[in-house]
Amino acid sequence: MGLGIALRDSKLKRRLFGQLFPSYLVIVLISLMISTWYATKELKHLHINQAESDLKARAVLIGNQMNGYFLSENFKAIDKLCKELGKKVSMRITILLPSGKVIGDSEENPALMNNHKKRPEIITALTGNTGNSIRYSHTLQKDMMYVAIPIIENNKIIGIGRTAIPLVYVDKVLKVIYFKIMIEGLIIALIATFLSFFMAKRISKPLEELEDGVERFTKGDLKYRLPVPNARETSSLAIAMNEMAAQLDNKLTQIKKLENIRQDFIANVSHELKTPITSIKGYAETLIDGAIHNKEDAQKFVNIILNHADRLNNIIEDLLSLSSLDQESEYEQLSVENSSIKDILTSAIQLCTVKAQSKNIELELSCSANIQALVNPSLMEQAVVNLVDNAIKYSSPASKVLIQGMQEGNEAVIKVIDFGCGIPEAHLPRIFERFYRVDKARSRKLGGTGLGLAIVKHISQIHKGHTTVYSTVGAGSVFSIYLPSNQITN
Ligand SMILES: Nc1ncnc2c1ncn2[C@@H]1O[C@H](COP(=O)(O)OP(=O)(O)OP(=O)(O)O)[C@@H](O)[C@H]1O
Ligand SMILES: [Mg+2]
Repeated sequence: MGLGIALRDSKLKRRLFGQLFPSYLVIVLISLMISTWYATKELKHLHINQAESDLKARAVLIGNQMNGYFLSENFKAIDKLCKELGKKVSMRITILLPSGKVIGDSEENPALMNNHKKRPEIITALTGNTGNSIRYSHTLQKDMMYVAIPIIENNKIIGIGRTAIPLVYVDKVLKVIYFKIMIEGLIIALIATFLSFFMAKRISKPLEELEDGVERFTKGDLKYRLPVPNARETSSLAIAMNEMAAQLDNKLTQIKKLENIRQDFIANVSHELKTPITSIKGYAETLIDGAIHNKEDAQKFVNIILNHADRLNNIIEDLLSLSSLDQESEYEQLSVENSSIKDILTSAIQLCTVKAQSKNIELELSCSANIQALVNPSLMEQAVVNLVDNAIKYSSPASKVLIQGMQEGNEAVIKVIDFGCGIPEAHLPRIFERFYRVDKARSRKLGGTGLGLAIVKHISQIHKGHTTVYSTVGAGSVFSIYLPSNQITN
């Protein structure tokens, strides 16, 4: 539930994509704007420089052409040439004397023009350098770009040549370029937007998938597996989560299985207890109804009641011993000692002798005295008794049961071998389960509840050992208990 709330809370927060995409976009657009602004500025600078050097080159050419007229002081010819050239090259051309008096101009009558001595480009040209100026022209009533150069003869400034173009020309060209840059910028911005979108999606999508998957986990879908993304951090997260889900799933399946076993167990116990109780009740009622007055019947029925009471007692003892084994294995309180296997087998055989004799079955022991294992002797004895008891129970009269102890590698092995009815292979995997019997009717008649082998298995397990069974129908069975032992035998 805690996780559920956390997930719901996170829904209120902004999705990762919603944070990544705008950030990417802002970064890209700001860098685009800055670079465009810088490029435009540089371009304008470059363009103006170029326009100026263009003007200067023409001014120098024109000055050279005027040289001859200056010498002959043919100012009329100069003015005429200015007007002709000005039309051809579509720029304003002005020629002045060093005094600042205009003697030729492509646009105006020089006689009507005032002295230009104070114009900044002329002042610079008079020092022998190239003069530049961008300013408003009162003559033409527009912003102009001017370049003035000195016309020199014999190291003496004999005049000034000036060329000019309206600034709108420069601006016009720049505007066209600006427009192109703007269009290109827009296209780039559009592409950047798409790229940002996909980049943000690429990063956020695997995380969103993880989030969705985890939500499926919390809803109990533990069979689901998260897709593993490419990035190391997220992929190891997904792998870890998948492992966690798999483990949880296993645990859950185990718990369900245990729950089933528990329910089966309760049903079995109830059934096993109910059978003798029903009989006891039945015979007791028969006695009350009058049978008690017939001495012979009374004796017979009370004996039957006693038998069933014994059986109940046996079942309950078995159940108690199983549950105490459970507890011992759980808390590892088992008290063990280095015991002689031969001693254990001998006392187990003693406990079964009466039963064996009643069926005329011979119990044959073979075990060397030096075989030892760390065991709880009375528990191990109980396990062997259970095996020998079965061997006697499921053998025909006048046969043999072999009880053997031996060392196999670093294990002590106890084998109980009979030549009885055997067990069909299909039943073998289950006979160690509680209450499991191959032939229910037959076993019950023989007084079996199906707890004997479960106890054997349990006792072996809490000694860190295991059990095996080999059996052939009609030929007999071999039950073995393997126990860890470091005894060296020769
Ligand atoms: N030596 C054997 N030969 C043939 N069948 C056997 C042998 N040992 C066990 N079985 C089969 O395995 C089943 C389970 O044995 P287990 O000892 O657990 O129960 P049980 O002998 O029927 O009852 P309990 O031992 O509780 O009195 C038996 O019912 C029987 O069918
Ligand atoms: Mg048994």
